[in-house]
Amino acid sequence: MTDTCDLVSDINRDRRAGRLAAALNELTDVDLLLERVLSDARALVSAEAGSIYLRRGDTLVLAISQNSYLERIVMEASDLPFLNYILKLDRGSLAGYVALERKPLVVNNTMDIDLDAPFQHNTSIDNSTNYVCQSLMTLPLVCAPGETMGVLQLINPLDGEGHIKGFDEDDVALGKFYVQSASMAMEKAMMLRSMTIRSVEVISSHDPQETPAHAQRVACVATELYEHWSARRRVPTSERFRILDMLPLAAMLHDVGKMSIPGAVLTKPGRLDLNERALMEAHVLIGARLFRKARTPLDRLTFQIILDHHERWDGQGYPGWVDIDTGLPLPGRAGPGGRVQGKKGEDISIYGRILAVADVYDALVSRKTYKDSFDESLSIQIMEQESGHHFDPEVVESLLARRKVLRKIQDRFPDNLETSDLAGEAPLAKAPVAYPVFIWPCRRGWRAMETCQRATSGR
Ligand code: SIN
Ligand code: SIN
Ligand code: FE
Ligand code: FE
Repeated sequence: MTDTCDLVSDINRDRRAGRLAAALNELTDVDLLLERVLSDARALVSAEAGSIYLRRGDTLVLAISQNSYLERIVMEASDLPFLNYILKLDRGSLAGYVALERKPLVVNNTMDIDLDAPFQHNTSIDNSTNYVCQSLMTLPLVCAPGETMGVLQLINPLDGEGHIKGFDEDDVALGKFYVQSASMAMEKAMMLRSMTIRSVEVISSHDPQETPAHAQRVACVATELYEHWSARRRVPTSERFRILDMLPLAAMLHDVGKMSIPGAVLTKPGRLDLNERALMEAHVLIGARLFRKARTPLDRLTFQIILDHHERWDGQGYPGWVDIDTGLPLPGRAGPGGRVQGKKGEDISIYGRILAVADVYDALVSRKTYKDSFDESLSIQIMEQESGHHFDPEVVESLLARRKVLRKIQDRFPDNLETSDLAGEAPLAKAPVAYPVFIWPCRRGWRAMETCQRATSGR
């Protein structure tokens, strides 16, 4: 009887693992994917906590961490990040051992690890969080052919009563199956992100203002704005999630059309004459044309963003109601003197309205002319003044609502970051920072960090 029940539950577990693994292919965004991989894997083996480490050269960098015990205490944010937690890639740690051996490893009681064992459990995280990792299953994340991308660590599986039990062979088999699909999905998402960042690098060779760091900041700010705006508007969760998954990549490409604009125009100090102005504005249609024959939802979103990011709420922006190919007014859209009508208000897609705010805000706040703090409040003031003129007032409200996060985005992606630090690899901190940062370019990390500090300082 018990055997039959076990068998049925095993089959159900296998099916569930198969479904979860297949669903990973729908995700585009590295951060969302890491969150999903970790929470799925934890759910499959009822693990209370878990982490993903990613390989960076000869180190392993803690990319994401979840812990439902600590989350219950703090009741907010699902990530539990640690300041610059980096392990040497050697056999001395469980994670390092598994990364090098490329085989799963189960330790069901970290207290029992033999002193002669090649690896030891590093208790520094346990000590800093007051959370004891007793049972650990560490699985290698391997992409073809035999390259280790990182490791997935599952911590403290719980039985029905919430007591820690050990991992068994079935758990290992399930984990092995799941990380195979997860590794492939992660590799695809990381490749997509690094290709995107490389195109931004090409733009920045024409226009030093358009750095990969600027693109990342704009992507982060746009995502924050959409998160806030869409919650307020009660956009259904599945739609919000779909957009949040694509928005960072699409936003990074907003100025991709600048690749075809002469550098002399892009970098000219002072005012542009009429011809130069027309050339500059052409970056919108040139970029939009690249994404016009959309094959995927990501192409469609990128198209909208490129096309609408210089429209203004009051209708005074560009390119307005034009034919994408000719740049001429669409039928019935020629205004006085044959000039094209600008798109206005909600005729502009919400993604374009959001990008306008994110792009201009970042340009303002990144100016090197003022002292940092002054820059920020002055920039916010300018954004508020332009609410209802240049910008959608609702999006400006979202900007104000997320003000605390904005500064952290600025600090997270300084202009002097090397491109490799942004191109889908985990960056190493160049210098100690004043507050703990989540070292992977994870959008939610900074919020979670505050939560974690509150959690652990109160105990
Ligand atoms: C390790 O794998 O030994 C480091 C992670 C941990 O201590 O939990
Ligand atoms: C930009 O796209 O960054 C500048 C375009 C403009 O000056 O209109
Ligand atoms: Fe632009
Ligand atoms: Fe820009």
